Amino acid sequence: MEFETLVQTRRSVRGYKNEPVPRALIDEILSVAKGAPSSMNTQPWHVHVLTGAPLDEVRRRNMEGMASGEKPKRDILTHGAYEGEHRRRQVDIAKKLFSAMGIERHDAERRQDWVLRGFRQFDAPVSIILTYDRVLDPGATCHFDLGALAYGIVLAAWDRGLGAVTNGQGISRSDIVREVAQIPDDEVIMTAIAMGYPDDDFAANTVKSDREPNESFVRYVGFED
Ligand SMILES: Cc1cc2nc3c(=O)[nH]c(=O)nc-3n(C[C@H](O)[C@H](O)[C@H](O)COP(=O)(O)O)c2cc1C
Repeated sequence: MEFETLVQTRRSVRGYKNEPVPRALIDEILSVAKGAPSSMNTQPWHVHVLTGAPLDEVRRRNMEGMASGEKPKRDILTHGAYEGEHRRRQVDIAKKLFSAMGIERHDAERRQDWVLRGFRQFDAPVSIILTYDRVLDPGATCHFDLGALAYGIVLAAWDRGLGAVTNGQGISRSDIVREVAQIPDDEVIMTAIAMGYPDDDFAANTVKSDREPNESFVRYVGFED
């Protein structure tokens, strides 16, 4: 796909066909994505690709934890609730998704069900767990590097007819992911990316998120025009 078309048509996919993704295709995607830049070419990432029984076990144990009221236990530091502009944008995308899904504002049950879908990694057939070498903590630079890799992964997937969503909820219980996927202790779990063939009948998959106009976040300094 032409680059601009690829970027402009890509969107997060939160409903998947129950169809396995060939390992060779995932490997091809990762081969493209690893072309991402990283600080001093350190390539600080590790990629753990889960499917089948191990992924189902992560989902099941995540759900058990949620049901029994256990707190999230992420490896990475997280901020508190979003406020101001950040909150407004968070609410905007949630409204779009709920509206597409026909979930009413006061329908607490369906809203909760939607949240749980996220913790189940949207029942995607594949979950890609990105980690980095713990020795790089505190890791602002390597977080940046993993962000670049993650974007490469979702774009390369989209280019091949696959959908994906970067899914922080998927690693909210990093301890469970670590245990099931046997991720070594010297790696920090950064994010999950859910991936699979998009279910075209899943309404939320049509949602296109907004972006602010350049004037609201770009400044040009020293230009003549
Ligand atoms: C670091 C990160 C974590 C995310 N975690 C979640 C998540 O847990 N659940 C979810 O539904 N979407 C998650 N997303 C997807 C964002 O909501 C999505 O990228 C954003 O709304 C823009 O929409 P688009 O990807 O369709 O352009 C995450 C995205 C990023 C970059």
